[in-house]
Amino acid sequence: MTTLDSIVVAQVDALLEGEPNPVTNLANASALLYNTMADLNWCGFYLYSKQTQTLDLGPFQGQVACMHIKPGSGVVGTSFASGQSLLVPDVHAFAGHIACDAASNSEVVVPVVVDGTCIGILDLDSPSLNRFTAADQEVLTAFAAALAKHLDAAALALVY
Ligand code: SME
Repeated sequence: MTTLDSIVVAQVDALLEGEPNPVTNLANASALLYNTMADLNWCGFYLYSKQTQTLDLGPFQGQVACMHIKPGSGVVGTSFASGQSLLVPDVHAFAGHIACDAASNSEVVVPVVVDGTCIGILDLDSPSLNRFTAADQEVLTAFAAALAKHLDAAALALVY
């Protein structure tokens, strides 16, 4: 499996240029990654809602998924609570992993930080064990930073 090419960072920046709607931007960002990376079964966002105080399902590609995840729960909630990205080579070995799609065997999650605040988590799942590398994690971190520049937190807070 080849590492995710860092050109995807420039691609997402160009793709979202001038679009103010954060949901539109998150939707296309998930589609870009899902169609760029091989061997994924899910790719999308969980966005923190101040109203529900949970991470609510955002734009994604893949099978239907859990709609609400509590901060601290599962891979996504653990990443949100710690503010750290996580590489999970085998989801079955991660205590508290939330199985949305039974096909998932490995996962990588990256916080999306807008103006210093984590607004949610980018989550990618693969049916293969050990699918993601530390180099993928680095590119995805840069991807999340490039995407964040196209996200208006105030506009997002109207829906999340
Ligand atoms: N596996 C995640 C839940 C989200 S699905 O992977 C789409 C978790 O443990 O938080």
